[in-house]
Formats: sequence, C-alpha cells, structure tokens
Amino acid sequence: MKLKFFIAALVIVFAGTIFVFKNSNGGNVMAESKSNKKVLVAYFSASGTTAKVADRLSKAIGADLFEIKPAQPYTSADLDWTNKKSRSSVEMDDRNSRPAIANKVADMSKYDVVFVGFPIWWYREPSIIDTFMESYDFSGKQVVPFATSGGSGMGDSGSIMQKLAPNAKVDSGKRFSSGVSEKDLQDWASKWL
Ligand SMILES: Cc1cc2nc3c(=O)[nH]c(=O)nc-3n(C[C@H](O)[C@H](O)[C@H](O)COP(=O)(O)O)c2cc1C
Repeated sequence: MKLKFFIAALVIVFAGTIFVFKNSNGGNVMAESKSNKKVLVAYFSASGTTAKVADRLSKAIGADLFEIKPAQPYTSADLDWTNKKSRSSVEMDDRNSRPAIANKVADMSKYDVVFVGFPIWWYREPSIIDTFMESYDFSGKQVVPFATSGGSGMGDSGSIMQKLAPNAKVDSGKRFSSGVSEKDLQDWASKWL
C-alpha cells in the first residue's frame, strides 16, 4: 500500500515537472519572438504633462527614456500664447526656428523605434522637436509622434516631422489626455514593437 502511494506521488511530481517545464519554455519562446527591437521614448515637456505620459509609456513598453532639454529653459512668460511677442509665439511663427537642445541621445543608432512626445503648440509640434528631428540620422527607423494638448489633435506634426527626417518612417501619431493609462499606451504602442 505504501509503495503504491509512493509511486503515485512520484508520477504526480514527474508530470507536474514536465508541465512546468513546458510552460516555462513556451513562455521563453513567446518573449523572444515577440520583439527584440530597441525602443526609445524621447520627449519635450514645458510644464510636465507630456513628461508624465512619456514616463508611463516607457514603463508600459520597457523602453529607454530621454528628455529633450532646451538649452534655454522656457519660462512661464515664454509660454504665454496670448502674447504675440512671447518666445513661444515668435518661435512658432517662424517655420525655420530651431531652438537649441542642451543634451544628446548617447547612441541613437541602436534604436529601431523612436517614440517622440511633445505638447501641441499652435496645432503642431514645438519648434524644438524640429531641432530634434534634424539632430540625428533616423534612416530606416520607425518614428512615432505622440502629444498632449488642451484638446487639439496632432495636426500636421507627423508630416512635418517626416519632411525633416525623410529616410525615417514617421507615423501621424496620436494625442493623449494627461490621464491615459499604461494599458492604453501599451495597446497603442504594440503595433510598432
Ligand atoms: C505656446 C503654447 C501653445 C499651445 N497651443 C495649443 C494648441 O494649439 N492646442 C491645444 O489644444 N493646446 C495648446 N497648448 C496647450 C498644451 O498643448 C497643453 O497644456 C500640454 O498638455 C502641455 O504639455 P507639457 O506640460 O508637457 O508642456 C499650448 C500651450 C502653449 C504653452
């Protein structure tokens, strides 16, 4: 009786081991085949809203995160869109404006997909994003814009960015509300991963 019980226990343990082994192997294969793409989330944020969404996105998809920092930070007077002479108004009025960036992505060449986040300014990407697009060789890379705003959509941001990086593949991108969930960001981003 004891022996029967012992053999039955052995069979159960053995079967269980095979089950766990098969599952863990299956899991590994899934993880490998899903994606080995290198992904960067780069963003500019003047008042913190886009920064939060960018941080959430990078966590949701396990991407590197890079903040595009202006050489000259924007003050609240600079951001006053009701003043035609404010720095942001002057920059956005001039399509050739290229505000300087203080920092640099260490090795852009290693990334396959670059998400680029920004606040919508005057219905499009801020000029500093134009500087960013012209600062690197995006050849063969997938670029995916995303933004926050007071309500406006992406406007022509994607097509302007495409012109500035003609050898990249630039999507039209998506505008998110500040409270967008990690899950929604992951679902949206998964198309390019
Ligand atoms: C100069 C300027 C222009 C803006 N233009 C627009 C606009 O055209 N449409 C819109 O919906 N929101 C506009 N906004 C609001 C911002 O897009 C919004 O507050 C954004 O979430 C700010 O992101 P941030 O905190 O990352 O800078 C503008 C804000 C500024 C400062």
